[in-house]
Amino acid sequence: MAVTFPRRALAVCLLALLAGCSTVAGQLSSTFYKKKCSNLESIVLSAMTQAVNNEPRMGASILRLFFHDCFVNGCDGSILLDDNTTFTGEKNAGPNANSVRGYDVVDTIKANVEAACNATVSCADILALAARDGVVLLGGPTWTVKLGRRDATTASQSAANSNLPGPGSSLAQLRTFFANKNLNARDLTALSGAHTIGQARCVNFRSHIYNDANINATFAAQLQQSCPSSGGDDTLAPLDLQTPTAFDNAYYQNLVAQKGLLHSDQELFNGVSQEALVRRYSTGAAAFNADFAGAMVKMGNISPLTGSNGEIRLNCRKGNAEKQRNSLLCSLMQFRVQLKSELNLLLVDLGNLKLNNLDGISWIINSDILELEAGNLSADFEISEILNLKIECTLSENF
Ligand code: HEM
Repeated sequence: MAVTFPRRALAVCLLALLAGCSTVAGQLSSTFYKKKCSNLESIVLSAMTQAVNNEPRMGASILRLFFHDCFVNGCDGSILLDDNTTFTGEKNAGPNANSVRGYDVVDTIKANVEAACNATVSCADILALAARDGVVLLGGPTWTVKLGRRDATTASQSAANSNLPGPGSSLAQLRTFFANKNLNARDLTALSGAHTIGQARCVNFRSHIYNDANINATFAAQLQQSCPSSGGDDTLAPLDLQTPTAFDNAYYQNLVAQKGLLHSDQELFNGVSQEALVRRYSTGAAAFNADFAGAMVKMGNISPLTGSNGEIRLNCRKGNAEKQRNSLLCSLMQFRVQLKSELNLLLVDLGNLKLNNLDGISWIINSDILELEAGNLSADFEISEILNLKIECTLSENF
């Protein structure tokens, strides 16, 4: 008896632990990288500070990038994936093509994070932190970003086309798009306040400034000067005409004055349900800030991949399997270089390509400049110790 009881108890504890583990795996946590990458937040903040100092609009662009990631199959970094032979991704979907920007900033942050904490932090989490930092750097509220998202291995152009609301949406449609992501009308109204920063293209507000009645006439006439009724699709206008690079509540003041840039913006103040909230935010920055921060946390929780789902992508633009295929190509190229002289150590740096310790591999050498090509990559390098270099490219049977 004395022996059986602890065993049973142990079994129960183990079961409870296992159940607990599976629940925990599905949740995000603010301390997820505390041990694994303790400098993560400061690495992201410093790169974002540089990017926003360089171009304040980048704070807006990264925020939108996060929104467009989260609304399409969850906050899983899928928007960052380039199209490849196995899927057509989200970058060229209608709402994103020629519009979403900031991919290069994410690449820079990812490179810095990889340098400090290799293969540890997901692109999805980097984006969540960068979006928060962009808002803060432009004067907006801060919030604690829950972490532990993993990266998708695939992306879907059709999901991007069907999950993101367009600028011509009615209030009812906007509410439906948000409800589909478990975000309520209040979240919709608060999150739309993101349009207090950033720019939109003429093609997205043309119909509003020429055809809608619920727009201030002077405001419409001003915009019509730079956004003609046809042509000039890419001409930009600020989403918040007052303070386009300050994260404040001016967006709501604009709506009350019928100076929302997009049809969808003005729908939030159009004689119906969201009017009271828009008025409240227009006079109370603190209320807006608090609701915006809360809604961002909710948005960041949309269907994350956690536990053993997804992966920690090494390059935000490519799934790891694809990356391996690329390094295989490099290997292929390396193995095409046949070593015929005796050489124990060769270290050649060629951009991202490193040929290291190639002893045992045969190659032919005939001049002192060696030219290699791998996909788009091509460069010259010198091998000083060896005379008479010439490369003979032969395809290794291994590949
Ligand atoms: C409510 C539905 C929404 C619609 C219909 C909508 C639509 C748009 C459109 C059409 C643009 C301009 C794109 C262009 O002309 O290239 C834009 C820009 C932007 N959107 Fe939204 N959006 C919505 C919600 C949100 C949310 C929830 C966020 C973030 C929390 C957000 C953040 C932004 C930002 C920051 C920009 C400016 C980006 C830049 O300057 O690069 N939007 N949005």
